[in-house]
Amino acid sequence: MFGQKSFSRQLLHICFLLPVFVAFFSLNATALTQKGAKEGILLVAFGTSVPEAKKAFETIDASYRKAFPDIPVEWAFTSQIIRKKLAARGEPASSIGEGLEALAKKGVKIARVQSLHVMAGEEFSALAHSLIVWLHRHQGVFDALYLGRPLLESRADAEAASRAVARAFDARRGSGDALVFMGHGQEKGRAGLAFEGARAIFKDNDPLVFMASVEGERSFDELLVELGKHEIKKVMLSPLMLVAGDHARNDLGGAQSYSWASRLRAAGYEVDVNLEGLGELPEIGDIFIEHTKNGADDLSGEPRKP
Ligand code: CO
Repeated sequence: MFGQKSFSRQLLHICFLLPVFVAFFSLNATALTQKGAKEGILLVAFGTSVPEAKKAFETIDASYRKAFPDIPVEWAFTSQIIRKKLAARGEPASSIGEGLEALAKKGVKIARVQSLHVMAGEEFSALAHSLIVWLHRHQGVFDALYLGRPLLESRADAEAASRAVARAFDARRGSGDALVFMGHGQEKGRAGLAFEGARAIFKDNDPLVFMASVEGERSFDELLVELGKHEIKKVMLSPLMLVAGDHARNDLGGAQSYSWASRLRAAGYEVDVNLEGLGELPEIGDIFIEHTKNGADDLSGEPRKP
């Protein structure tokens, strides 16, 4: 995470340098129309060290290889702590820079970086920032670098995602059972509005679907009040996160008294916990693939008008 101070300082730095990038790279705006320029994809996630949670990444990886059979697909994890843990276990994972270098080594000239974040919050901003800094330090490596936006970027995305999760829970959920999602959220609330938008759309599609966040503005206490307004006996808990990692296994479904499962049981609800990340649903991978295909923000050149 960036400290607020150093982030704004770095941002200032970027704004100062931006005219230089634009002048330097504007010749490349037509790169996509040139035939033969090799494309490659870099999928970027926070990462997880929970072995059972890896299934989400494997599902997304398989979907990408099927959708883009002839082009290289690389992965990067942004969390340094997780990369260290994995390396110690003999399962090294790339950083963003290492992932871009792996694409360059394969002769890729048009890089398509896809954010695997659920919403455009702090982690997504940090990704965009890292890419701009990398491009500045490695000028001329790629003709173009496109950044695909996170999962829940539009109303249509949230509707597609809510249909996908509804289908996934259909068989396991009785009528009258609530479905409660734990999103990540963030303290500074950068993604707070996106979260509220997604919450409203999920709820429009199913009034018994609820959402709150583990680290964001929409709190568990607000969730309890919302649940109390309905005649609900049973609650199905599920992470609104790509992988069912640490938060899902501890904060959501853990045996500790602070977990949402424990607190809901203490409040008198019957509770069932789903430990599958969103990424395990193929329909979620399809939304990301759409975003990769539609990515129009070439970070190495001038933004194109639609
Ligand atoms: Co967290």
